[in-house]
Amino acid sequence: MSFSSVLNSFSVSLSNGLRIPMLGLGTSHRGGYCHEAVVYALKDCGLRHIDTAERYGCEEKLGEAIRESGVPRSDLWLTNKLWPGNYGYKAARKACLDSCSRMEVEYFDLYLMHWPEPMTPGRSNREVRAETWRALEELHKEGVCRAIGVSNFLIRHLEQLKEDCSVVPHVNQVEYHPFQQPDSLIRYCADQGIVFEGFSPLAKGQALSHPTVRRIAEKHGRTPAQICVRWSIQNGVVTIPKSTKKSRVQENCQVLEFQLDDSDMAALAGLHDGRHVSWDPTNVE
Ligand SMILES: NC(=O)c1ccc[n+]([C@@H]2O[C@H](COP(=O)([O-])OP(=O)(O)OC[C@H]3O[C@@H](n4cnc5c(N)ncnc54)[C@H](OP(=O)(O)O)[C@@H]3O)[C@@H](O)[C@H]2O)c1
Repeated sequence: MSFSSVLNSFSVSLSNGLRIPMLGLGTSHRGGYCHEAVVYALKDCGLRHIDTAERYGCEEKLGEAIRESGVPRSDLWLTNKLWPGNYGYKAARKACLDSCSRMEVEYFDLYLMHWPEPMTPGRSNREVRAETWRALEELHKEGVCRAIGVSNFLIRHLEQLKEDCSVVPHVNQVEYHPFQQPDSLIRYCADQGIVFEGFSPLAKGQALSHPTVRRIAEKHGRTPAQICVRWSIQNGVVTIPKSTKKSRVQENCQVLEFQLDDSDMAALAGLHDGRHVSWDPTNVE
């Protein structure tokens, strides 16, 4: 079995039966996008899951990197996200199809509503979220989005969507690292059959200098980044660390050959302090 097959055999089932690889590569507009790092991740590290968003502005370049890697589209898991500026039924459909065109792909494996707050003055957030979700439900039915989900949604946003729509989101992608462990949201998602996916697993680098993370890294002869990635995976959370450096992309993938023990897991669970390194959706109605 190749390293790539082993890496991607770590996967989680969505409620529609698709399996999402637990480890993916993040991309971003903040901190730059690196074409070489993406090609390297696909070609040399065997990663098959890439996370992006319309908002990150790198869809064309990412499409080029995927083609350059030579990895067939059918072997890849591609997640993309719809920005709130394009919420609403018609705009959402168009934005998704435009994203497909920019990346030169026919479908996304997962398509997410990026943020719970629409940019639509004069209408309630709930109403616009539901209308947008209906567009995603249709794109899902048509096969343009093999799975659909949300990002940064809290329990109340998910409860409203459940009342207003028919397809329960397959995934909720939320900030998750040792300082940010939204346990009640994780339990809610599990109860509802929604896969919980974590973003910013290294707390944008903030977790890497924490003494507890460093101590556990030394104990296992690993790096602090590997400890954070491994911790997410061992907690059953899909994770998408981002790096623009080839050596770090490789480092972040080498997390299969060791295991954190109960005392490591408990020490890392104890680091939760509720801080957000990305946006905080707490006040979104
Ligand atoms: N849904 C959402 O609202 C949302 C929000 C934020 C992020 N995301 C997704 O989640 C992905 C990851 O999140 P993130 O980029 O915010 O944070 P992250 O993955 O926690 O951290 C990325 C930062 O850590 C550095 N880094 C990566 N690997 C490292 C290593 N091995 N050693 C030392 N430093 C390392 C990177 O720098 P270099 O690039 O210089 O290596 C970058 O500054 C994003 O790319 C995006 O796909 C989603």
